[in-house]
Amino acid sequence: MATFDKSKAYQDQDQVFFDDGREVELLHFVFGRPDIDSIRGNPTAVVKAIDEYGRTKKYLMNVGEDKGAIVSNLIAEVKPRIMVELGGYVGYSAILFGAAVRKANPQGKYYSLERNPEFAAVSGALVNLAGLSDTVKIEVGSSDASLKRLYEAGAFGDQIDLMFLDHWKPAYTTDLKLCEELRLVRPGSVLAADNVIKPGNPPYLEYVRSSVGEKRKAVAEQKKNGSGVDERFSSKQATMYEKRVGKVELANLVGNPNLIYESKLIESFEPSGVADGVEITRCMGEESQ
Ligand SMILES: C[S@@+](CC[C@H](N)C(=O)[O-])C[C@H]1O[C@@H](n2cnc3c(N)ncnc32)[C@H](O)[C@@H]1O
Repeated sequence: MATFDKSKAYQDQDQVFFDDGREVELLHFVFGRPDIDSIRGNPTAVVKAIDEYGRTKKYLMNVGEDKGAIVSNLIAEVKPRIMVELGGYVGYSAILFGAAVRKANPQGKYYSLERNPEFAAVSGALVNLAGLSDTVKIEVGSSDASLKRLYEAGAFGDQIDLMFLDHWKPAYTTDLKLCEELRLVRPGSVLAADNVIKPGNPPYLEYVRSSVGEKRKAVAEQKKNGSGVDERFSSKQATMYEKRVGKVELANLVGNPNLIYESKLIESFEPSGVADGVEITRCMGEESQ
C-alpha cells in the first residue's frame, strides 16, 4: 500500500468538524483569493483551493486527493453516462469527479445529492466557479427522497452507471437496496463506497460481498423479523446524527438479492492521513429466481 505524504495533510478533525461556519468561511477563502479570476472555469484549481483551506485553516470532510484518485481512475474506466453521489457536502468530490465524468464522457451527467441546503448552496457556488454547472446537478434533500424523485422524473434513464456513496453510513445499504428495487442498479452498474474503514461500515461490506444465496436467506429472515439501524453502528453515532437531522426511519427494503456482485477494498487515506479505504463493487449479472 502507498504511504501518506504528510506535507499535504488536512488539519486535525477535532470533536466538532463541520457545520460550525467553516463551510461559508471556505467560500470567502476561495472567492477572496487574489487570483480568483485565474481559477474560474478550472476544476483542478478550484479543488486545489479547497485543499488549501483544509490544509491551512480547518479540516473538511472531503474525500481528498488519495481516495479521490481511486474514484477518478474508475470514472476513466467506466465512462459513466449517469453518475450519482450520495452526500455532496461543499462540492469537493462533485468538482473532482464531475470534471472526470465530463472528460470521460462529454454527454455524462453527475448528480450530487445533499441533505443540507446550506452545504448544497456552498457546493453550487463552487461548482459554478469551476465551470461545471452543465455537467453537475445538485439535488437538495435526503438521498432516498431525491433518488425516488429523480427516478420518477426520468433523470437517470435506464440505470446508474456509477454511484459514489459518501453520506450517512447506515443509509449506504438501504439506498443501494432502493436503487436495486428501482432497477437503477443492475448488471453493468459500479459502486464506490467511501469510509468503509474509517469510520467503517460492516453491514454494507457484508451486503456487497454476499452471494446471491446468502442474500436470499437474509431477505427471508428480514421478512420475518423486520429491520432497523444495524447494531454494529454505535449508538453514539446514531444519536449524534438524530440530534442534527431528527429521527430517521430506515425503510425496510429487501433490494434485489439476485444481483451478482464482485467487490474489493482499495486501501488508502483520509485527507488527514488516517487510514481508510474505498470499496469498489461491480454488478456482474443477475441470477434468475
Ligand atoms: C462526508 S460528507 C460528503 C463529502 C463529499 N462527498 C466530498 O468528498 O466532497 C457527507 C455529506 O452527506 C450529507 N448527508 C448525510 N446524510 C444524508 C442523506 N441521507 N442524504 C443526503 N445527504 C446526506 C451530509 O450533510 C454531508 O454533507
